[in-house]
Amino acid sequence: MSINSKFVTLKNYIPIGIPKEEDFEIKEVKISISEKNEILVNNLWLSVDPYMRARMTEKKNYKPPFKLGEPMEGSAIGQVIKSNSKNFKTGDFVLSNCGWRDKFVEKEINLEKINSKNLPLQSFLGPLGMTGHTAYIGLYKMASIKKGQTVLVSSAGGSVGSLVCQIAKINDCKVIASTGSDEKVEWLKNELKVDHAFNYKKTNNLVLKLKEIAPDGFDIYFDNVGGDFLEAAIYRMKNFGKIIICGRISQMNASTTGSGLKNMAHVLVKRLTIKGFLIFDHENEKGEFTKNMTEWLISEKIKIRETVYEGLNNCPKAFVDLLNGKNIGKMLVKI
Ligand SMILES: NC(=O)c1ccc[n+]([C@@H]2O[C@H](COP(=O)([O-])OP(=O)(O)OC[C@H]3O[C@@H](n4cnc5c(N)ncnc54)[C@H](OP(=O)(O)O)[C@@H]3O)[C@@H](O)[C@H]2O)c1
Repeated sequence: MSINSKFVTLKNYIPIGIPKEEDFEIKEVKISISEKNEILVNNLWLSVDPYMRARMTEKKNYKPPFKLGEPMEGSAIGQVIKSNSKNFKTGDFVLSNCGWRDKFVEKEINLEKINSKNLPLQSFLGPLGMTGHTAYIGLYKMASIKKGQTVLVSSAGGSVGSLVCQIAKINDCKVIASTGSDEKVEWLKNELKVDHAFNYKKTNNLVLKLKEIAPDGFDIYFDNVGGDFLEAAIYRMKNFGKIIICGRISQMNASTTGSGLKNMAHVLVKRLTIKGFLIFDHENEKGEFTKNMTEWLISEKIKIRETVYEGLNNCPKAFVDLLNGKNIGKMLVKI
């Protein structure tokens, strides 16, 4: 028996600038389940992530470019419709990396069974998934966060950033959050209880703004954006401060390569540590994270916020809107 499967694919590579919806198309193929250990899955939730942008160019990165015309990889949660494995049964929920598709067949080795423990299924793409793990490893392992520190977070209204803010508050830190809309500023202040939130788009001089908010400087800067914001943060770090390079979204879509950091002297004189990390290197370090994050979600110490678009056809729009800052919290597509 074969059934129809729809997927989103990239039509052409996008070397610079923000992608357009027209850069993507939907394709339909027939799929069937035949081999032992194959599973047929119906997707329910698709993750929309900035790192996918790096795979939309032909440039070498830590993962190869997406193949034009073929399904794009990416995290998704679905339900088993048919199984040729004794380890999975119809109705099980699974996490895959098979991307923006409605249905697919995959070998069991590439699927992870989810026990949702009454938490929303989609939290396994957000706080209990890759973005939550990134926030956790970035703060605990990379920055060695300590009680009472002052933590600066960029893209704080997004998925990783909003979790960084909340984990830092759980550690009794002072949290300064930067984000790109007044609505996100209000949410960060009123719901997530950060100590200060501001709209970087309304700020003429970032260095002076950071000085005004935190005159003594920052112990940790959790960098999701790179570029000018990173440079401004370097000026305002305390001696022996730690800068954790998580992302560089301001540079991902830039039409020029920029002129580089002009203030490396501050890194030297203040004896700063600048550390980059990729969460894929920490796949085997999920135990403590999953336990703590599950407890925080159940006790509502961590609040979830999602921006949800409906339907596979809306994946390209969700992605373009993510890069334009239209999301609050995790960007998802529900099928
Ligand atoms: N190192 C790792 O292993 C790892 C893993 C996951 C994610 N990441 C990185 O972590 C960062 C956050 O990821 P996420 O999934 O949580 O995405 P997100 O923050 O939920 O969404 C992206 C946000 O980036 C902001 N943005 C877009 N263009 C910008 C610009 N020019 N300057 C400043 N901000 C800009 C927008 O918010 P505003 O309204 O604030 O502009 C947008 O909402 C990304 O850089 C991503 O690549 C890294």
